[in-house]
Amino acid sequence: MACSAERKPHALPLLTYLLLWWWTTCVHGEATRNSLKPGDTLNATEGAKLCSEKGNYCMYFVGSTFDDPNEANLYIYAQKNVWAVWVANRDQTVDIDSAVLSLNHSGVLKIASQHAEIILYSPPQAINNTVATLLDTGNFVLQQLHPNGSAIGVLWESFDFPTDTLLPGMRLGVNHKTGGKWSLVSWLSKELPTPGPFRLEWEHKTKQLNIKKGEKLYWAAGENQLKHILGKAYHHIVFVSNENEAYITLRSSDEELTEWTLLSTGQLMNRNGGDVARADLCYGYNTDGGCQKWEDLPSCRNSGDAFELKQGYANFDFDTKKDEANSSYGINDCQAICWSTCNCVGFTHLYNNETGCTFLWNSTKGTNIASEGEKFYMMVKSNHHKSTQKWIWAIVAIGATILIICLCLLCGRVLRKRKYALEELKAKKMGIENDDLEASNTSSCPEKLEVFLKDEHDKVFSYASIVEATNDFSSENKLGQGGFGPVYKGILPTMQEVAVKKLSKSSRQGLLEFKNELTVISKLQHTNLVQLLGYCIHEDERILIYEYMPNKSLDFILFDWTKNQLLDWNKRFSIIEGIAQGLLYLHKYSRHRIIHRDLKASNILLDENMNPKISDFGIAKMFTQQDSESNTTRIVGTYGYMSPEYAMEGVFSTKSDVYSFGVLLFEIVSGKRNNSFYTDERQLNLVGHTWELWKEGEVLKLVDPSLNDSFSEEEVLRCVHAGLLCVEENADDRPSISNILSMLTNKSKVTTVPKKPAYYVRTKVLGEETSTRDFGLDSTHENSLYVSST
Ligand SMILES: *[C@@H]1O[C@H](CO)[C@@H](O)[C@H](O)[C@H]1NC(C)=O
Ligand SMILES: *[C@@H]1O[C@H](CO)[C@@H](O)[C@H](O)[C@H]1NC(C)=O
Ligand SMILES: *[C@@H]1O[C@H](CO)[C@@H](O)[C@H](O)[C@H]1NC(C)=O
Ligand SMILES: *[C@@H]1O[C@H](CO)[C@@H](O)[C@H](O)[C@H]1NC(C)=O
Ligand SMILES: *[C@@H]1O[C@H](CO)[C@@H](O)[C@H](O)[C@H]1NC(C)=O
Ligand SMILES: *[C@@H]1O[C@H](CO)[C@@H](O)[C@H](O)[C@H]1NC(C)=O
Ligand SMILES: *[C@@H]1O[C@H](CO)[C@@H](O)[C@H](O)[C@H]1NC(C)=O
Repeated sequence: MACSAERKPHALPLLTYLLLWWWTTCVHGEATRNSLKPGDTLNATEGAKLCSEKGNYCMYFVGSTFDDPNEANLYIYAQKNVWAVWVANRDQTVDIDSAVLSLNHSGVLKIASQHAEIILYSPPQAINNTVATLLDTGNFVLQQLHPNGSAIGVLWESFDFPTDTLLPGMRLGVNHKTGGKWSLVSWLSKELPTPGPFRLEWEHKTKQLNIKKGEKLYWAAGENQLKHILGKAYHHIVFVSNENEAYITLRSSDEELTEWTLLSTGQLMNRNGGDVARADLCYGYNTDGGCQKWEDLPSCRNSGDAFELKQGYANFDFDTKKDEANSSYGINDCQAICWSTCNCVGFTHLYNNETGCTFLWNSTKGTNIASEGEKFYMMVKSNHHKSTQKWIWAIVAIGATILIICLCLLCGRVLRKRKYALEELKAKKMGIENDDLEASNTSSCPEKLEVFLKDEHDKVFSYASIVEATNDFSSENKLGQGGFGPVYKGILPTMQEVAVKKLSKSSRQGLLEFKNELTVISKLQHTNLVQLLGYCIHEDERILIYEYMPNKSLDFILFDWTKNQLLDWNKRFSIIEGIAQGLLYLHKYSRHRIIHRDLKASNILLDENMNPKISDFGIAKMFTQQDSESNTTRIVGTYGYMSPEYAMEGVFSTKSDVYSFGVLLFEIVSGKRNNSFYTDERQLNLVGHTWELWKEGEVLKLVDPSLNDSFSEEEVLRCVHAGLLCVEENADDRPSISNILSMLTNKSKVTTVPKKPAYYVRTKVLGEETSTRDFGLDSTHENSLYVSST
């Protein structure tokens, strides 16, 4: 998180980049100031920091990773493990472009931004001689100073306002004088510092540590139980009680820092290792480990049933329950709902910011636990009773012995049987599918999408009509395989031809992309964008219906020796113009600013007159008009078309689409794929090759030989020139799409001289990357793909 606050230089070679990062964060960071004097500010925009003297803790603004990256919070981070220990403004975010923490000449400590002012402290009357210091304990303290410079007293300190973390020296308890309480409140989710469901309190009367959710007591432990739970670590707790206050606090020894954090799951963890409390394991009926009882075991659950965190692929049900859409639900709310709903067997969050719920039902098939995929909670049925556990082990041991013997004997028979079983299953499955069809012939597709598509009811198609139109998704009707599922040709009863895209069933991602595509594309209308006619949801099938494009996609014709004759230069030039017009609409003239993020030849469809239409908005990103750049940890796109700042750092803007457009320009001119292109003497991709030709003044050598020299030299030069400006390394240097359009269509000369582009040297791995893929930002595989050109 520390890194995401930095503005990073664009696309430097990896090593230099890492060195620079190390220098700015580690070396330069230590020279940062540790206090604010009256009139001083800590600004959000430049990645400015306030660090304690020894550098144990630093304070800075960090933008939200999800939702709106312009929303920021002011954090104090422990530098050792980059763990947020305090948040100044957890109730209200501020605008990152204008946010400042300031101490003014009246002694007012506040966070101000364009839309909000959050007062942290305001003295009863103006004081000019104050200083706010971040101490090496993690405490941010506002002090009044004597004119000779020594501190008179503490006016305000962050330790009086704990968030979710108890640092040594912080108090947990009650102030008898003011009646104020010091307690910890968990975040709403792992990603959101907003106050969440759980609260940790020290009840001084009963000398008991409590974890509550609302008014419900989830977990409690008295002194003796704490001794038992914590063992040696118990001695880090100091109990204080006097006429002014009653509290506990943590004492840290030199070698180890004790630090408690209350997580949004209800778990109270010791950052130094180990858990203090597992309120996340309290279901209401069980009393083990400090859990409190508040209800009986539901009749459909057994003692010992619990949810466990798993990883893999599962068919989550996104549409059937209204509760799930409430973004004030944290993961524990989902657990509680699932627990009391008999046919619920798993759950996970619905939104990227880890709020909302989506559930797994006991009727869903296809859950697959794997070492990759998404993390989710799943019900594990067990009969973990301590007395029966030994028995189980004994039975398992005996059983295993017998099993091994039997296994050898059965091996042959099982193999034979399996063949029959498979055939039987197949037959059964077909039977089920036929039943479904009959049932759905009468009903239209469920209209469960109102959550995100209120006024699109006229676009709902019935599943039966689609089955009929596509001849039951027959292989003859299959047009191709898109990034997220197969595409079929269909003929509606009105004789209208349509393209039917069936999203992959198994992936949860598929659904996000489905919703995204629907929301984005239903808002758009332009001749150079493919038109969505409707959609259909049937059980776990998700289907999109588009206008049919008889000439398939650009890559299908352009890169085919026999078909590319169909595209003479005039056609190609008008395709280039059409794509640019479509992109201009996305970037500028539609109500929302839209970044496509996966512009490539296979996503350009061609109608019967070879007019281009941009398609596949599964990963497009919609913005309000004033935003221009965003940042993501999930990088989705296609190598070769991705701009370097997006591929490397996840930063994308309209200029990332401009980069992809540049690559497309070269492909259309040359009739060759960027990724599969290379010459024997130079290990370059198409972008690199074009640049070399440009330097040598041999641009016309790039032109597709199948054009047989019948093309306008001037237009080709203009296209290549514009293309080279599009693929420049620095996003800010690239022209906007409207500039490109005027370069392409204006007869006046383009004068800007292109700089050396960012391009990838061809490697073995690269040649194979042709489809849309999802890359983790931190994968070493990905970093190794970026090789700086010299
Ligand atoms: C920080 O923000 C304040 C208030 O917006 C502004 O006056 C000041 O110039 C900024 N400082 C820097 C170094 O940009
Ligand atoms: C300090 O800030 C407070 C609150 O915004 C404001 O009322 C006061 O006038 C400011 N004082 C000075 C000297 O700017
Ligand atoms: C506070 O001190 C600063 C610097 O010494 C001075 O410029 C300012 O006028 C003083 N403000 C008040 C309200 O006394
Ligand atoms: C500053 O003044 C206070 C009060 O008069 C006094 O107690 C303190 O020792 C002085 N400190 C220094 C460094 O002179
Ligand atoms: C969402 O949940 C919160 C807390 O459980 C509740 O107060 C709120 O009314 C719910 N909102 C909706 C729209 O149901
Ligand atoms: C799913 O749960 C329901 C409700 O408890 C139950 O009736 C049904 O038998 C369960 N089905 C399976 C396959 O476990
Ligand atoms: C979390 O995400 C959901 C859906 O994007 C949004 O409605 C909600 O406001 C977000 N919550 C916060 C606190 O930002």
